Amino acid sequence: MGVMHPMEEILALEMIRVTEAAAIDSARLMGRGDTMGADEAATQAMRHAMDEIPMWGRIVIGEGERDRAPMLYIGEEVGARVAGQPEIDIAVDPLEGTNLVAGGQGNAITVLAASEKGGLLHAPDTYLEKLCVGPVAAGKVDITLPPRANVAIIAEALGRSPRDITIVILDRPRHADLIDEVRQSGARIKLISDGDITAAVSAAVSGTGVHAVMGIGGAPEGVLTAAALKCLGGEIQARFRFRNDGERQRAAAMGHTDLDRIFRTDDLAPGDDLVFAATGVTDGELLHGVRFFGGGARTHSLVMAYRTKQVRFVDTVHMFDRQRPPSVRL
Ligand code: FBP
Repeated sequence: MGVMHPMEEILALEMIRVTEAAAIDSARLMGRGDTMGADEAATQAMRHAMDEIPMWGRIVIGEGERDRAPMLYIGEEVGARVAGQPEIDIAVDPLEGTNLVAGGQGNAITVLAASEKGGLLHAPDTYLEKLCVGPVAAGKVDITLPPRANVAIIAEALGRSPRDITIVILDRPRHADLIDEVRQSGARIKLISDGDITAAVSAAVSGTGVHAVMGIGGAPEGVLTAAALKCLGGEIQARFRFRNDGERQRAAAMGHTDLDRIFRTDDLAPGDDLVFAATGVTDGELLHGVRFFGGGARTHSLVMAYRTKQVRFVDTVHMFDRQRPPSVRL
């Protein structure tokens, strides 16, 4: 396998060090009320760790346009960049849930996706309406149907009644009608303050108690979600939701002119050599947060590769000080 897909193998194992480093540094700022500081810590650690990876990397989804972001801006080159190393496109959300970390709340993660060149959609920093489901309901739902109809489809696919499934929705005023409709369908709702990537990944992992994500969230997050759901056999369907003409123009400048287009998992993450990595920063349903102890820390991550069909949960003990090694516990 390593011979068949060397790039994916290297990437999957190396990328996890990037999300781990970002998680450790941002977790230090848990509960300090400092959203900017937490995001900067994750971004810097990610940027640093990426340069250790044997690749010619290019950020396709990052912290913003070049003039707005000091690092991990769109188009920035990262990696060791030695001749002969593979060209890799990278999408990052260095810290998903900056508010969650600042407020000491759960479910914050550091996250990235990587692929061969061209394998991740260049999405503008606008909104997407999303419908995300796990493998059982994949191929059955349809974002153009009313939410109530999709709840019924998901429930049937899972062999349950609508009242036994849970839909995650970002707690925003823009979702008042959606929430009403889902309530009428009988499904349970979990309102979250932030973090629709974690929620969507959870919908594709059984045992998390989450069955779908509906509603409007960030477009860059949509691409990262697509990479994860593709690896897990789940599905995302999405369409642009612009708030103003400026956003419409930004999308057009990136080549998105068919504004009614429905994006599917493969449109958002067309790559074959696709890798997704995420590390928990604060405790959540999917991943434990960073736990610090004298001389070290322990992280919990999820790393997946599409072609090699591998999903790994990785539990890592990081020793900060070899003079004072932590006792490694099971
Ligand atoms: P951050 O990466 O800034 O922490 O954003 C988290 C998030 O909640 C995403 O999960 C979601 O897609 C988006 O923000 C929603 O945007 P908004 O807060 O503008 O509704």
